[in-house]
Amino acid sequence: MKSIISTFILLLSLIVTPLIAQNFAINHGPYLQAVGKNEVTIVWTTNNPAISWVEVASAGDESFYAKEHPKYFEISNGKRLVSKLHRINIAGLTKNTEYRYRIFSKEVISDKNNKVIYGNVVSSDVFNKAPLRFKTFDDEKDKISFTVVNDIHAQNDTLKALLKEIRYGKTDMVVFNGDMISSVENEEEIFNGFMKSSISMFAKEVPMFYVRGNHETRGGFSTQFPDYFVNNSGKPYYAFRYGPAYFIVLDSGEDKPDSDIEYADLACFDKYRTEQQHWLSNILNSTECQSTKYKIVFMHIPPFGTDWHGEREVKTKFLPILNKAGIDIMFCGHTHKYSYIDSVSGVSDFPVLVNGANTSLDVTVNTNSLIIKIKNTKGNILNTHEISK
Ligand SMILES: [Fe+2]
Repeated sequence: MKSIISTFILLLSLIVTPLIAQNFAINHGPYLQAVGKNEVTIVWTTNNPAISWVEVASAGDESFYAKEHPKYFEISNGKRLVSKLHRINIAGLTKNTEYRYRIFSKEVISDKNNKVIYGNVVSSDVFNKAPLRFKTFDDEKDKISFTVVNDIHAQNDTLKALLKEIRYGKTDMVVFNGDMISSVENEEEIFNGFMKSSISMFAKEVPMFYVRGNHETRGGFSTQFPDYFVNNSGKPYYAFRYGPAYFIVLDSGEDKPDSDIEYADLACFDKYRTEQQHWLSNILNSTECQSTKYKIVFMHIPPFGTDWHGEREVKTKFLPILNKAGIDIMFCGHTHKYSYIDSVSGVSDFPVLVNGANTSLDVTVNTNSLIIKIKNTKGNILNTHEISK
């Protein structure tokens, strides 16, 4: 009898183990976030809870298997985090340096009564494919280029057409200036809406920065949405330096009053924009901001055009502070229509460029000028602006 039971258990384990092995997988990513002079965060998701880590190697042709590489885990309050969303920060890197990386996740099948049962390990493939790469930023670089798109609203074909030229080593970074999807009901909408396309095209190796639009504040999963887009402040508004430019990302929130019936008693954006006012004053007074040649602002809702509540708010709360800071340009979206509003003394002391829904901005910042080329999905240049320094 004993031998029948043992045989049955053995057969059962032979059936169940491969099923677990087949089921556990990396379902999205990896993609780069919060790239800086000395750090990067690598993000991906798995279909089951897991602990995860990244192995980092210096650039070069040496096999990834030549030696053991340092491992970086996501640590939360002293413990390795068990999660389906993995966000591994790698700090202490050298600026302006290329690295290679590989990601790993080990499934956590159960964690009960001080007994953890692990499943399989999955990883990115460095055996059949070249390892993935990233390059840290350099604040002494005198020329950078980046591409901006906005208001994609899950139109993957438009996104793919606008970003088809993005390549590692050619474009320094990509900025999503809001409303990449229309509402956020679950994780799959984020990936099906625009991230799956972005990851397959560039986001594994080219840094991407997110500016939250009003549509990403809507839906049952919208409060989790910022977790997928990491930055150095831990909030949807942040600032960072790259080469000759200091970038300020503002979150304009919703466009109608907080009490509007559409927001179902969940909106508190007036208070949130006031919170940003204080943060904005502080970062504009920082030595890093003041010592950087160009100051560029991203904000989804433009401060001109409709006279809706959100627009009034950003106009009265942010513009007076920005007007004192020597801003070179503000990039917006939201209207789905291109416009270029030159500086108006006393209202906005810098130009505001509103990018349409079906065009990209290719921006080059160098020692003497900031050049913006507005391109359609065919890659034709529709407008050019140059701001000389
Ligand atoms: Fe919008």
